Amino acid sequence: MFHGAGAGGNERPADPPTLWDIKASMTHPSVSHQPVLREECVHLLCPRPGYYYIDCTLGLGSHTRAILEAAPGTTLVAFDRDADSIALATAALSDLAPRLATRCADFKEWRRFDMPSMPFGGCLIDLGLSSYQLEGSGRGFSFLRDEPLDMRMDARTGPTAAELLNEEPREELERIFRDLGEVRFWRRLARAIVDRRRARTFRTTADLVDAVRSVAGRGRTHHPATLPFMALRIAVNGELEGLGVFLREAASELAPGGRIVVISYHSLEDRIVKQTFREMARVTVDYQILTKKPVVAGEDERRRNPRSRSAKLRALARTAEGEGREEEGAR
Ligand SMILES: C[S@@+](CC[C@H](N)C(=O)[O-])C[C@H]1O[C@@H](n2cnc3c(N)ncnc32)[C@H](O)[C@@H]1O
Repeated sequence: MFHGAGAGGNERPADPPTLWDIKASMTHPSVSHQPVLREECVHLLCPRPGYYYIDCTLGLGSHTRAILEAAPGTTLVAFDRDADSIALATAALSDLAPRLATRCADFKEWRRFDMPSMPFGGCLIDLGLSSYQLEGSGRGFSFLRDEPLDMRMDARTGPTAAELLNEEPREELERIFRDLGEVRFWRRLARAIVDRRRARTFRTTADLVDAVRSVAGRGRTHHPATLPFMALRIAVNGELEGLGVFLREAASELAPGGRIVVISYHSLEDRIVKQTFREMARVTVDYQILTKKPVVAGEDERRRNPRSRSAKLRALARTAEGEGREEEGAR
């Protein structure tokens, strides 16, 4: 049986934001989120009436709206681990409520949830952060604002970024900055953090920016704190863990003709998506890669929406019977 928004019953208990929280956030100027590669996502997902879809990363719901509006007769289950985003998007998408169920959970846990009794037409994953999280959540995702150094997408679980900086051994900090952020000065930064925390604990984004400044020169192309912040966020949220497993699980459940569309913003994520898709298309004729090269944003979108500049979109299809195996990007 399929339940509507928020009535799943088997999700972890959420701390629902109060009405005041939602209203305050809704009036925040940064609450709007420009969806990246929206038309390309809908084209490649190719939603069909009579099928259900999953938006793994609801955010503020712009992609979800585009999918549901493109194909009447579809149903969609949307995941987000951020309770604020679920509340904001559920309110913003209330006109689509009969065809939409929202779940406050990690999409990699999707198998714990009831799904509609329709064939599975596909899923969209738009990884990373929404502009609301970066600019309006107050959780320290951006080095441009002095905020508590939290960085958790799901504020109910796991250590905060400040706790990692204050408690992890130097070797683990080195691994985070080197492997997850490819930070040039990873060794010096880890040492500076360990030295600094002996005197005073890390509490805010400004504390981390100071530590970065103490070891890094001026960045030529971007602020020297960009990569350390990204690495720490990936570590706090375990963003790379289980992505390949999820893609294989979802692909195995696809109905013939079903599709998986992924937008990533980071080379390590993109590598996992590329390798998993290649492996699936190599081991069985049931799968076809639709994007020989990743789809990227055009000049116009890159100018309008700087977030789109690092986006790479890849898509995989479960072949429908009798379908050829030619790759779209090769035509
Ligand atoms: C780039 S935003 C998505 C924006 C969305 N496509 C839109 O149109 O507004 C990414 C969202 O995915 C969520 N997210 C990231 N990783 C997740 C995961 N493993 N499970 C559930 N949600 C996740 C984040 O909390 C964030 O709200």
